[in-house]
Amino acid sequence: MGTIVFLGPPGSGKGTQAKLLADRYGFVHLSTGDMLRRAIKDQTPVGVKAKGFVERGDLVPDGIIIELISSCLSSIARQSKVILDGFPRTVAQAEALDGSSTTEVSKAVNFTVPEDILIERLTGRRVCSKCGDSFHLVFIPPKSPGVCDRCHGNLVQRNDDSERVVRNRLEVFRSQNQGLLDYYSNHRKFVGVDANQSVDSIQSELLKILL
Ligand code: AP5
Repeated sequence: MGTIVFLGPPGSGKGTQAKLLADRYGFVHLSTGDMLRRAIKDQTPVGVKAKGFVERGDLVPDGIIIELISSCLSSIARQSKVILDGFPRTVAQAEALDGSSTTEVSKAVNFTVPEDILIERLTGRRVCSKCGDSFHLVFIPPKSPGVCDRCHGNLVQRNDDSERVVRNRLEVFRSQNQGLLDYYSNHRKFVGVDANQSVDSIQSELLKILL
């Protein structure tokens, strides 16, 4: 299975871009954040263990995440083109992914955005409570306020998008990021993308890299 890894801080647009690539070009989009939020909502054993970590903006322990993603990857057809959004986040997770027999990482795409813009993007984000699509109060407003363009679900703020939790998520990201960048640079799979551009410009850059 050809696998693309999306790296980058919270709010850098990984999910927005991955969803577009899935809708338009048939990529399979796997987001560990979405999986965890679903598990928390459904109160599964993983969700119960993960809840506190996600609410505080801390990383969920590697063992839980690796098991979650491994069982998901093993159920996907071998010929699929997969985007991993938000995984790996630690070197231990990257090593576990490389040790897996079901998938091979072909590229690690690193999204960069200045930190003040990340805070604006995250605190102004609204997500659809039904389909999970992401909007922004100012940058990417829905056609009708509070209503999802795609499925007409209600738009809500994620619990971990308060400024206090956002600041912790950025701190956690900084503490892990260099190790991951070194890991993928050493494996010659690393590509950087300036993600402080319009959604369409970033998408065009990604298409040149991925197709
Ligand atoms: P997760 O859901 O993965 O959150 P994240 O990495 O913090 O990423 P985000 O979803 O916040 O940002 P994004 O880059 O996808 O940006 P988006 O496209 O939405 O993880 C949540 C939690 O789960 C973690 O804190 C952790 O606890 C746990 N977890 C998950 N994976 C884990 C792992 N592997 N290991 C351990 N724990 C894990 O865009 C953001 C906003 O900006 C939106 O409003 C959007 O509309 C807007 N926007 C997007 N693009 C643009 C643009 N070009 N211009 C202007 N605005 C834009």
